[in-house]
Amino acid sequence: MTSRSFPDGFRWGVATSAYQIEGAWDEDGKGVSIWDTYAHTPGKIANDDNGDVANDHYHRYGEDVALMKAIGVTAYRFSIAWPRIFPDGTAQPNPKGVDFYKRLVDTLLDAGIEPFATLYHWDLPQTLHDRYGGWRSAETAKAFAEYAGHVVEQLGDRVRHYFTINELRSFVEGGYQLVDVQVGGKTLQLGGAPGLRLSDSELKQVRHHAVLGHGLAVEAIRARGPRGTKVGFAENIRVAVPVVDAPEYVAAAERATRERNAAFMTVMLEGRYTDEYLAEAGGETPTFTDEELRAIASPLDFVGINVYRPGWYVEPADEPAGYREIPINASHPKMRSSWHLLDPEVMYWAPKQVQSIWGAKSIFITENGCAASDVVAADGRVYDTDRVMFLRACLAQLQRATSEGVPVDGYFLWSAQDNFEWVDGYGNRFGLIYVDFETLERIPKLSAEWFSRAARANAVV
Ligand code: FCB
Repeated sequence: MTSRSFPDGFRWGVATSAYQIEGAWDEDGKGVSIWDTYAHTPGKIANDDNGDVANDHYHRYGEDVALMKAIGVTAYRFSIAWPRIFPDGTAQPNPKGVDFYKRLVDTLLDAGIEPFATLYHWDLPQTLHDRYGGWRSAETAKAFAEYAGHVVEQLGDRVRHYFTINELRSFVEGGYQLVDVQVGGKTLQLGGAPGLRLSDSELKQVRHHAVLGHGLAVEAIRARGPRGTKVGFAENIRVAVPVVDAPEYVAAAERATRERNAAFMTVMLEGRYTDEYLAEAGGETPTFTDEELRAIASPLDFVGINVYRPGWYVEPADEPAGYREIPINASHPKMRSSWHLLDPEVMYWAPKQVQSIWGAKSIFITENGCAASDVVAADGRVYDTDRVMFLRACLAQLQRATSEGVPVDGYFLWSAQDNFEWVDGYGNRFGLIYVDFETLERIPKLSAEWFSRAARANAVV
């Protein structure tokens, strides 16, 4: 153990999602997802890119697992495409879809890489959108639980760890309440599939159905998965960073984080909506029952958090809320993506707050990483120095948390490879491995060398 080491057994993982890398969008009986539909609609995605082929991972998973093994990753977080398993969302399962994930998982296990499966990373079967309005209806939450139960029956002998839903906040807010922004005289739509523009009140009901889907899926996994199956969610927690590391600031920041995650993490971990959130909802929405709240807060084995950026800075205040948010300065440093404010300390505060606010006993960082303007240099290498800086700084803060006893059991870097970055298309590269989207050649970047050394040392290097 050096002073920069992580605890024994700490997982060094990488993450991806189905629509962003698999391709094979209509192969082996797969149904259409709302992201297929959205990306096939002209004008929605930068450069009109789509995920039809993406990284062709569906056919190249063997090569991709070998690359991960060479880097020395010990865990892989991937997502399962719901429309591969249930092409119509419900009813008739498609064994060929399940077979793909069995092959992938067997290849991972042979390589000594532990599989962590996400059940929903936004690629809703189109039929559920057409029939019910997607997550506008509790029927979709029920269908999700049915699908989750089927997956653990099929893969439970191979996969022990499941994340129900990835970033509830992102797909709900982005998909069901598109926002127009003006950039350089052009109107851009922020958000993604299915691309609706619901009212605030309708949106609150969608949020409720998303957490309900999570809860019902946890119940189905407990009922139908083998003993020892472990489950949690992977949410992009919004973290309030205390301006000063002093008790009154830390307490104010915890209050802010709990309140600002009321619709997602707080209700999933506490089984109640905060009074402030309900008051904000005007008493009108969401509508819910006590039984639903019990399902939503089904006990979990771990909490997964995606951590990229600080939400706000906070100081204590003599106001009813007990805190005040500090506006972000215009000159605050950023990584490449427009949304990506830089403060590595959020990687310390996020798990620390999850432990102190909710008493979590096991935490995974389910995503962290950054986009960079990567290019292949004349010598054939990719020198992503900014990503190396970002990773080292973030992991140093995570190590600081684990050294204080915060129970973080693993870290998943987003992403294993460059991939289809939603509305940004292929233009925003997040990978440890560079992908040439013409030839689909894969080239490990400088950051892959760094990550490899860190993973093997189980320490910040
Ligand atoms: C997260 C998503 C993931 C990827 C990264 C950059 O919000 O979960 O799919 O797009 O951001």
